Amino acid sequence: MDKIRRTKVKQILNQGRSGEELCAKGWVRTKRGSKNVAFIALNDGSTINNLQLVLDVESIDENLLKKITTGASISAVGTLAESQGSGQSVELLVKNIEVLGEADPEEYPLQPKKHSMEFLREIAHLRPRTNTFGAVFRVRHEMAYALHTFFHNKGFVYLHTPILTASDAEGAGETFKVTTLDLHNVPKTEEGSIDYKQDFFEKETNLTVSGQLEGELAALAVSEIYTFGPTFRAENSNTTRHLAEFWMVEPEMAFCDLEDNMDLAEEMLKYMVKHALDHCKDDLEFFNKRLLDEEKSKPQNERSELSLVERLQFVAENDFERLSYTDAIEILKRSKPNQKKKFQYLIEEWGADLQSEHERYLVEKHFKKPVILFNYPKDIKAFYMRQNDDGKTVAAMDVLFPGIGEIVGGSQREERQANLESRMKEMDIPKEELSWYLDTRRYGTVPHSGYGLGFERMIQFVTGMGNIRDVIPFPRTPGNCEF
Ligand code: 4AD
Ligand code: MG
Repeated sequence: MDKIRRTKVKQILNQGRSGEELCAKGWVRTKRGSKNVAFIALNDGSTINNLQLVLDVESIDENLLKKITTGASISAVGTLAESQGSGQSVELLVKNIEVLGEADPEEYPLQPKKHSMEFLREIAHLRPRTNTFGAVFRVRHEMAYALHTFFHNKGFVYLHTPILTASDAEGAGETFKVTTLDLHNVPKTEEGSIDYKQDFFEKETNLTVSGQLEGELAALAVSEIYTFGPTFRAENSNTTRHLAEFWMVEPEMAFCDLEDNMDLAEEMLKYMVKHALDHCKDDLEFFNKRLLDEEKSKPQNERSELSLVERLQFVAENDFERLSYTDAIEILKRSKPNQKKKFQYLIEEWGADLQSEHERYLVEKHFKKPVILFNYPKDIKAFYMRQNDDGKTVAAMDVLFPGIGEIVGGSQREERQANLESRMKEMDIPKEELSWYLDTRRYGTVPHSGYGLGFERMIQFVTGMGNIRDVIPFPRTPGNCEF
């Protein structure tokens, strides 16, 4: 028999014509049926929807039929027909079916029922086979694609910044060390400290926390770049919004001030949300329903007013609120949860670092829309941010999103050599370590700006997934580095 090439389920469901002969391959989600006929829900991950296979039980070997269980992989050839049942437009009347790989029903951990997210994290190697994770990965892909399209259309250059680096861009010291030294026998200098001269790079090295500093070097040559890659932070935060390994998008633009920077971030975020609405319809419908079900178990006053899709539409269509850190502090000071001491961290004075409870109050309760805060106190921000004339604040900006809090962090950069050097001195950052960075200020410096978007937080927003560990295939968090 001539080999019939496989058609993906998505294509069959969208474009299949009744009477067509074709071959579908995938994994069995469920099998049900009667004495004469069996119905198999087949999924191949190309769409959240299953293809219904209809099997004439009499014409098929009993042993073969037994092997068609949830999780087994199969190849089926048949004729497409308009479906008799509800729930699908077409179904495949199977003539020939082959089991490619069995999945012992006694052992296969994914049964056709609801599994908890915690359980699925323990079997992250199999969870892609669930509806939820298939949908997460497809949306994640679409969001990456949308980002590249957005920046490409604006003439940005995608810059690949290093993962191994000697710098700690954010200066927070939360880096993972990289070494080939024998940890059981670490070489020491005469003074008794670790002799990094004997290490692979002959200096102390770590995994990058951000591609920004290298990104700036390129932006000051080709005008507009973006990076998109994994970044690593050894902060011991066990929250639903922190990972030790996460992906960040970092555009960096020459001839760009803080306002231009905010404009770009807002435009990009809206573009991504709109792309999801336009291109991830089936998956968003699934997430929308999933969230509605979840909301039902919450007390009335904690339920959100908008459904997931409504929230996405709202963000795509409305301007973000922009206000200074100083104005935000005034609002927070006077806010009910602050007055009634409901915040875990009370806002008492100007200069306080904002916690996610404060960010979410501003976004979810006060403005009820995304908020961009700008001009933060210099003491709570990184050394590279441009100093404002007031001597107290820097030209920083954070974009805050409902349900998430901070999703984007960025700033105009300090392009004036003297100001940058004096700030580094104040913060005890040795000039010698960043001489390459300072060179850009020495030669042909220009005003420039950039920001970083936490890619997983964006996926959380778009999918409504509550825990960041469930929007990355293999999450790395304190105590977890499986698979
Ligand atoms: O605010 P952050 O630390 O800014 C930077 O790294 C700058 N170098 C960016 C720039 O200006 N080019 O991080 C940027 C974003 C945050 O707003 C947040 O969304 C995300 O990265 N992020 C994390 N996401 C997941 N897990 C973590 N541990 C994260 N830390 C930051
Ligand atoms: Mg930040």
